[in-house]
This record gives sequence, structure tokens and C-alpha cells, in this order.
Amino acid sequence: MNKIIIANWKMQLTYKESLDWCNSNKNELNKIIKEKLINIVICPDYLSLNSIIDIVSLTDIKIGAQDCAFEEIGAYTGQVSSLSLKEIGCNYCIIGHSEQRLYSCQDYNIIAKKLVLLVKNNICPIVCIGETLEEYKSGKTLQTLEQQINYIIKALDGIKNIYNTKIYIAYEPLWAIGTGKSINPQELDLLIDKIYNYISTYIDTKNIYFLYGGSINSDNIESFKNITKINGFLLGKASIDFQKLKKIVLLY
Ligand code: PGA
Repeated sequence: MNKIIIANWKMQLTYKESLDWCNSNKNELNKIIKEKLINIVICPDYLSLNSIIDIVSLTDIKIGAQDCAFEEIGAYTGQVSSLSLKEIGCNYCIIGHSEQRLYSCQDYNIIAKKLVLLVKNNICPIVCIGETLEEYKSGKTLQTLEQQINYIIKALDGIKNIYNTKIYIAYEPLWAIGTGKSINPQELDLLIDKIYNYISTYIDTKNIYFLYGGSINSDNIESFKNITKINGFLLGKASIDFQKLKKIVLLY
């Protein structure tokens, strides 16, 4: 399985800036993808998705959405359906990002519904899980992650006969996102092992891959890159500046 880097651009670039970024850097990025045999997924805002899919159409750069609606169609003001994402050729979608959980009050019941719809539409879900600083400090990390994972397990178990897509579970401790503080790599290694063992007691893990996200940059990527069960990274801040992103990808 190739390594994967997901660039979560959040709302850091405008429509025009996003398109300019892709136009200026797509060829160099494509070259790196081919040389390193790595998957790179750019997740711009909804508005830029369609144009960016066109811009990178002759490259191996993959495009993902930052969220989707929990229903396919209906009276859901402001939402974007996984059906539309599929129609425009969007192959990946982040769901349950902590900023969505916080600002859009999403819980894992909703996130599990999104997971099912994405799988049904053959879009690779990138499901985020992660504990708060309070939970981390009080030793409740594993407990929190297992509670979140239970929803994922239940959702996947219900559709086990229909899915072929890869499922990415992105562990992103909330206290590490955008703070410059990442988790200790040894701690991450142990934790991912535990999560993996937990999931594998309930469902087949053959299509499930793990990512880490939270203040990954070119200074710390090397200490994370050899964790066996981590297949890639979800980058926020460090993915906006092409030179920084390039450095990380080359070091990975
Ligand atoms: P960060 O964000 O790399 O800026 O910490 C990661 C994320 O939110 O996915």
C-alpha cells in the first residue's frame, strides 16, 4: 500500500488562491508523486473542488472534499451531497474533522451516516478521531477513541458486503491540531497498535488504514515516518505552502 499525504486546506486559501496554487505546482507535485510512488490528496474548499479537479485532471494528484452531508438528497441548506462529490470525480472525503465536530456540532451518529454514504458512492472516507486535551491529561485517550471507533465499526459492519473502498482512520488529537505540539511518536505507535487490535476483534481490517494528523511539519516528519501501522499523514498548516509540503513529502 502506497503512503499517503492528505493536504487539508481548511479555509486557508480563497477560490482564486487555490486554483493558482494548483496551476503553479501541479507539474512539480506530479513528478514527486511518480518518483516517490506516494498518494497525494488535496482537499480544497467545496467551491474550488470542481475547478481543481479539472486543473489536475492529467496528473496523479487526487482531490478530496473536507466534508459531506449525512443524507444524499433533501432540504439541507448549506450541505453538499456525496452524490455531487461522486459526479464531479472527487475520490476522497474527510469526515468528522474536529473543527466540524466543534463548529457544526457533529456527533459520531452523523459521522457514521456520512461514512456509509461515502462508501456506497465509492469515495474513500477519511474518518477523523481524537481526544481533547482534558481527556488526554486524565488518561482517557483510549477510552475516547474506542467510543468513537464503535460508531465506525457499527457502520462498517452494516455494509460489509458492499464495500471495496479503502477506509482511512485519521487519529488527530485535538490538542495537537494547529498548536505546534504533536504527539510523541512512541506513544503514537503504542496507541495505534491498541486501536488496531480493538478494531480487528470486531471487523475485518483489510481495507482499513491509519493516518496521523496534528502539527506534522518538515522538522518532525522523520520521527513519525517509520511507525508501522501509520500509512500516512493529514496535514493542515504545513500543506498550504508548496515548498513546505514538498519538503515533508520528500522526507517521508
Ligand atoms: P495541522 O492540522 O497540521 O495544522 O495541525 C491538521 C488537521 O487539522 O488536519
